[in-house]
Amino acid sequence: MSGIFITLEGGDGAGKSTQAEMLGAWFEERGHEVVRTREPGGTRLGSELRRLLLHGGEEIGDVDSRAEALLYAADRAQHVARVVRPALERDAVVVQDRYIDSSLAYQGAGRVLEADDIRRISEWASGGLWPHLTVLLDLDPEAASERRRTRGGTTDRLESEADDFHTAVRESFLALAEADPDRYLVLDATLPPDELNAAILARVAPLVTH
Ligand code: TMP
Repeated sequence: MSGIFITLEGGDGAGKSTQAEMLGAWFEERGHEVVRTREPGGTRLGSELRRLLLHGGEEIGDVDSRAEALLYAADRAQHVARVVRPALERDAVVVQDRYIDSSLAYQGAGRVLEADDIRRISEWASGGLWPHLTVLLDLDPEAASERRRTRGGTTDRLESEADDFHTAVRESFLALAEADPDRYLVLDATLPPDELNAAILARVAPLVTH
């Protein structure tokens, strides 16, 4: 496999989609095939899982933490097998919103599941595929919730969790980044989009061999 796999992480409202778009455009201008995708929801099965996980409400009732972790893992297994690996095998660049780190941060933040269990399930689901680079757009949960308010639209189940949940998610992302500085780039999400893009490109350029 010789493609490039880049993931973007951060709380809801940190600006991942904007950065993913700018990064994808940069690669496309250089003649690379770019696959922009996301978890959950990057496959047909995944779209159904995403709908259930984020907007299932009464339809699915009170979802047990283990069941929830396995549904994210099921989404990941299908996505890696059908979208991400095939893309990397044909040398494409995969720019993806959220991956294993989101499971570690969000499912771990509930403090019900062991981090090691979440990691094992995700690694099994993905066949041990880790990104070349993970960009963490770090944002204070209060600023993030303000952004979501001004953005408008509907609020999903996780977005409406209490503030201490979002604080735990943020701390968990920062701890993951600190533990793996070779894979991670942590950026202050309050910086202007152009500056964030420049910082990401500075880190991405050395990954490009052609
Ligand atoms: P988003 O893609 O619109 O940010 O929404 C996805 C939501 O799903 C977000 O709140 C984080 C959550 N999530 C998990 O809890 N675990 C996971 O493994 C992934 C990929 C996402």
